[in-house]
Amino acid sequence: MAGISDLPYRLINRSFGCELAFTEMISATALAHKSKGTLKMLSSTAGDRPLGVQILGADPEIIKRALDILSEYVFDVIDFNAACPASKVVSGGKGSGLLREPEKLQRLLKVIVENTRVPVTVKIRSGWDETSINAAEIALRAQDAGVSGLFIHGRTKTQKYCGQVDYSIIRKVKESLKIPVIASGDALTPELINKLFCETGCDGVAVARGALGNPWIFTETVEYLKNGAVPFSPDVYEIARTMREHLAWNVAFHGEKTGVIHFRKFFAWYAKGRAVRDLKGRAFSVGTQDEMLRLIEELQTLPSACHFSPNS
Ligand SMILES: Cc1cc2nc3c(=O)[nH]c(=O)nc-3n(C[C@H](O)[C@H](O)[C@H](O)COP(=O)(O)O)c2cc1C
Repeated sequence: MAGISDLPYRLINRSFGCELAFTEMISATALAHKSKGTLKMLSSTAGDRPLGVQILGADPEIIKRALDILSEYVFDVIDFNAACPASKVVSGGKGSGLLREPEKLQRLLKVIVENTRVPVTVKIRSGWDETSINAAEIALRAQDAGVSGLFIHGRTKTQKYCGQVDYSIIRKVKESLKIPVIASGDALTPELINKLFCETGCDGVAVARGALGNPWIFTETVEYLKNGAVPFSPDVYEIARTMREHLAWNVAFHGEKTGVIHFRKFFAWYAKGRAVRDLKGRAFSVGTQDEMLRLIEELQTLPSACHFSPNS
């Protein structure tokens, strides 16, 4: 997730069983220019494996230059984004804009497959809008281009992140491909993840918003898929411990100022469902690690009547 899936976030989620993680979406243009902020997004560690790097672009020459730079880094998969619905992305013919140009998308994927040593995957949506659902055609073209797997968010570009997930189009794509298909869309609880598997027959599920302030979704889902029951939600001490660890990694990775600012939104996500509007509000003006730690302490010592589930 752009703006979210940095190294600290991935490490926290991996410590709760997230097996395959991806970097934030990385612009091929910014990578080709070796922008400092973009190169930082490629930071990783031995414990951050297997790792996919997701790139965004529409120009084959720029993409080739970006791949050249990527060849100096260690990662396991390269994913191409043909799903992002943001206006500034789509207006440049990138992201989900490519769903309207199936032939061009196929050519770009071929370029990526031919110019990298690791397996290539692609992330798509069901289509541009409800009148142009073309994921099945796009998926077959992607497979022909040589990609090793396909991620599909069962919503159109127009839906962005709202509205019904179309399970039937994911199933159709799964049934027409030989390569693994990973489903995305409202993977918010173990039950909904199980539903994605059952309704679509997919080979895997990609968790996105469901893990915001809730890395326990990975352990809980593995347990649920094995035994059909969700284990107890983490108590407030476990949540506070995880917050402190996440904050420490954020500060180590980004430096105190940026690390704390970046953590503010996570404070609110970890505290979701808790009647602590005042604390969440205060988190957005916290500037130091110590101040944030004191706020976490306050959260932890609230009366047990406020006990909550991170999914609530
Ligand atoms: C804040 C945010 C950032 C995202 N960034 C990316 C991204 O960089 N690349 C990508 O493929 N999908 C991205 N997504 C989409 C998610 O991967 C996922 O497909 C979508 O949120 C649907 O899954 P969900 O309903 O379980 O969250 C993002 C979603 C959100 C909410």
